[in-house]
Amino acid sequence: MYRMESSYLKKIIEGIPKAELHLHIEGSFEPELMFEIANRNNISLEYDSIEAVRKAYKFNNLQEFLDIYYAGAQVLIHERDFYDLTWAYLSKVHSQNVVHVEVFFDPQTHTDRGIEFEVVISGIYKALEKAKDELNISYKLIMSYLRHLSEAAAFETLEASVPFKHWIDGVGLDSSELGNPPSKFTKVFTASAEQGYQLVAHAGEEGPVEYIWQALDLLKVVRIDHGNRCLDDEALVQRLCEQHIPLTLCPLSNVALKVIQKMEDHPLLKMLDKGILATIHSDDPAYFGGYMNENYYETAKALNLTKAQLMQLAINAFEASWLDPIAKEQRISEVKDYFNS
Ligand code: ADE
Ligand code: ZN
Repeated sequence: MYRMESSYLKKIIEGIPKAELHLHIEGSFEPELMFEIANRNNISLEYDSIEAVRKAYKFNNLQEFLDIYYAGAQVLIHERDFYDLTWAYLSKVHSQNVVHVEVFFDPQTHTDRGIEFEVVISGIYKALEKAKDELNISYKLIMSYLRHLSEAAAFETLEASVPFKHWIDGVGLDSSELGNPPSKFTKVFTASAEQGYQLVAHAGEEGPVEYIWQALDLLKVVRIDHGNRCLDDEALVQRLCEQHIPLTLCPLSNVALKVIQKMEDHPLLKMLDKGILATIHSDDPAYFGGYMNENYYETAKALNLTKAQLMQLAINAFEASWLDPIAKEQRISEVKDYFNS
């Protein structure tokens, strides 16, 4: 079968106008910036060099990653730190032709250390606004509840967010999935919707298919983050297709966290074949070996994706985004024009 040359495939992917819908800003914290911010805040890191940090990025499961990810976030103290973190991510993805981002942040990772909600969100928001003005990147911001904490703690976060709700588009649910089902957060998701927030949740990354059903039926989410396990259940596949519920897949993350053993095992192609609105994103690029282009490239290479499938994936991401219908159509035409030129 014809396979695209690596350099040709890379070139195609680089040029696609892309949307990133599943990105944890704390997961974009590159070790170089971590050291710089730790130094200026007089915090000593557990590692003595950037190489030592990178060497520690070997995970057997989600929890092993989360332990290191939360430790890294401890050096973020001031508004400027959150600004620099966010700006570094936006500059990087701008160089990869990402034109729209929907960014997660984990307020509790910071407020539990005594950092004010306002400090966190102000730094992130100012960098997003600058990227909108200077890099022409449109954005949405999603506040994520940590599912290893209680629903009462999520309610406190919801309350803290209200004065800033004009800056926040949606809420999500992340962190340790196993043993923390979506059902634990039903009430706070209902209350979040009443504040006008859109709803998404991580489900079916390590957890069972039942968690995806709960995210849909109890939390009433409009998108599933990951959702890898959905192919275990034909009725669920039908539901996702009929209701056009997008899945935000993160292939390099899945390999790094051993959700799959190797990229060739990724369910993405089967999902596309079944008509699921599957999309590709980077999750925590500083930890998993790549940003958007690398995720597209490694997936395309392993699954031998065609140009038509790459175009479909790029269109799906805009389709799944929270852009208004006019902006959505505009971006989708840009993708089609790119592939047809
Ligand atoms: N927080 C950051 N990355 C995550 C992931 N892949 N799953 C759950 N929680 C996360
Ligand atoms: Zn995630």
